[in-house]
Amino acid sequence: MKKLAPSILSADFTCLAKEIKAVEDAKADYIHIDIMDGHFVPNITVGPFIVEAVRRVTRLPLDVHLMIERPEQYIPAFAKAGSDIITVQVESTPHLHRAVQMIRENGVRAGVTCKPSTPLDFLEHIIDDVDLVLVMSVNPGFGGQEFIPASLEKVKAVRKILDSRHSSAELEIDGGIKVGNIGAASKAGADVFVSGSAIFGSDDYKKTIRAMRRELREKH
Ligand code: DX5
Ligand code: ZN
Repeated sequence: MKKLAPSILSADFTCLAKEIKAVEDAKADYIHIDIMDGHFVPNITVGPFIVEAVRRVTRLPLDVHLMIERPEQYIPAFAKAGSDIITVQVESTPHLHRAVQMIRENGVRAGVTCKPSTPLDFLEHIIDDVDLVLVMSVNPGFGGQEFIPASLEKVKAVRKILDSRHSSAELEIDGGIKVGNIGAASKAGADVFVSGSAIFGSDDYKKTIRAMRRELREKH
């Protein structure tokens, strides 16, 4: 089953509980939370404190995307805050395997990802230890950016690797996903679709999510 993961980066934080309830009512599958530290990426967002607050208002799995330097230092705190999935950027740590191990030791599903310009080579030696591979289809740092079309080839390549290893890891795509391109991303092999501005920037979240689901049904 294909999954939708609204990114709260584009939600209205003055009424975050209401925003989350709205996408939950619209049948979202995950809540995607973008963690940025002003070092790994230029932007600063939220920390474990907000993840813990989100945990209290929803039962949906929390899909936490770390765009921070030295992620190992914060993995226990994000796990304790209630994350269900923690994804780390390969470029953010000299010890990707250790970070993945730490995530799992904390009872959380482990994801790995890379920037659009980073080659997929790193996957080969980590693929059997992860629960999710995320393909970034924009440069990490901001919501509302334009989808990078070359990402589709990357999704196809990851799909191939996962299939050849008989891996059951989920393949997620994040950045610039909207009704107009979600079908192509699905066709390329993605299972989980992160979408921030296209959902939270729309007038009717239910309608937008329904339109995305229709695309997923028609193009797969
Ligand atoms: C970008 C983040 C994304 C972002 C997606 O660094 O990882 O999760 O919120 O937002 P949209 O869907 O607006 O590109
Ligand atoms: Zn993200």
